[in-house]
Amino acid sequence: MDPRFRFEPTAVPMPEATRREILAAPGFGKAFTDYMLVMRHTAQTGWAEGVVRARAPFQIDPACAVLHYAQEIFEGMKAYRTPDGGAALFRSGANARRFADSAERMAMPQVPEELFRSAVCALVEVERDWLPDIGQGSLYLRPFMFASEAFLGVRPAAEYLFVIIASPAGAYFKREAAGLSLWVSDSYIRAAPGGTGAAKCGGNYAGGLAAQAEAARAGCDQVLFLDAVERRWVEELGGMNVFFVFDDGSLATPPLSGTILPGITRDSLITLARGCGREVREEPYAIDQWRSDAQSGRLVEAFACGTAAVVASIGQVRGAGLEITISGGRPGPVAAELRAALVDIHHGRAPDPHGWFEKVS
Ligand code: PLP
Ligand code: COI
Repeated sequence: MDPRFRFEPTAVPMPEATRREILAAPGFGKAFTDYMLVMRHTAQTGWAEGVVRARAPFQIDPACAVLHYAQEIFEGMKAYRTPDGGAALFRSGANARRFADSAERMAMPQVPEELFRSAVCALVEVERDWLPDIGQGSLYLRPFMFASEAFLGVRPAAEYLFVIIASPAGAYFKREAAGLSLWVSDSYIRAAPGGTGAAKCGGNYAGGLAAQAEAARAGCDQVLFLDAVERRWVEELGGMNVFFVFDDGSLATPPLSGTILPGITRDSLITLARGCGREVREEPYAIDQWRSDAQSGRLVEAFACGTAAVVASIGQVRGAGLEITISGGRPGPVAAELRAALVDIHHGRAPDPHGWFEKVS
């Protein structure tokens, strides 16, 4: 292991039979591996030695800054099983850069890109037995950082913990094969210009939960957010970016205007689709346009994408006085084609001209 990280073996690893049972049907976010990586930052020491140790609860002071002012950021990435039984990451440098950008926005110290990637690799090496087999999922990695100083004044904290945990993951949506249903909230927005929409901070998700609950009450899988100013332009889902496919074979996706998360899957799909000769436009798309394009047949598919969800077709969009059905409510072929192309690169089964695939072990 990288000498910057100390390894403390756990006395009670998960029994192999239990691990196998979990890996056979991992679901999403419910089971966790044996270890976590922890590093501490103070203004005096900078990032001190990291430790990979048994995953366990933290003891934190009731005045811990994150509990009051939500100075917290996270990343979502995955390790994939390769055909030779090894492990690989996908564009980890992009996650490292976004983590640094989120840190800057939330007035937190940045984890240098190289340190972030080495920390992720250190945990994956230790947890390689936790990678589901190809076709059964991947190992979801959740790097996060929070303000750990006990202090109630409102200012950037003087102490932080950078932690990585891992969780074997299968499909994010239970009913994905049927096409996702989305709920357009007219009561809530996710992000406003000048706010934190482009940062991956916990507060963005807390603020979206009431809208997601509204979606669930309406029987929908996910909330679709519109822009905060005109309440008209499609932004993104609670935890995914969105793409549109038109009858001329072209694609469109909302631009990175500062209020949506710059998804790494979004960026990868733009590159893959252009590589297949498709035109991809990053342009604003209005919800009323979505309705009329679906009715006229100009819009043939829509899909959501993200690390957890990969690529998932959208079958329906509903809201107050709104009901849109896309491609008869069924998953579309372009989403399936792009998903397969991406997943093949994840597992190292396809040529990788962009250098996205990173073998770890
Ligand atoms: N948008 C939001 C709000 C997200 O939480 C995510 C997931 O991370 C995405 C988009 C997709 O980003 P990525 O493809 O980097 O996972
Ligand atoms: C991801 O796709 O990694 C996400 O963070 C989305 C969601 C699970 C929060």
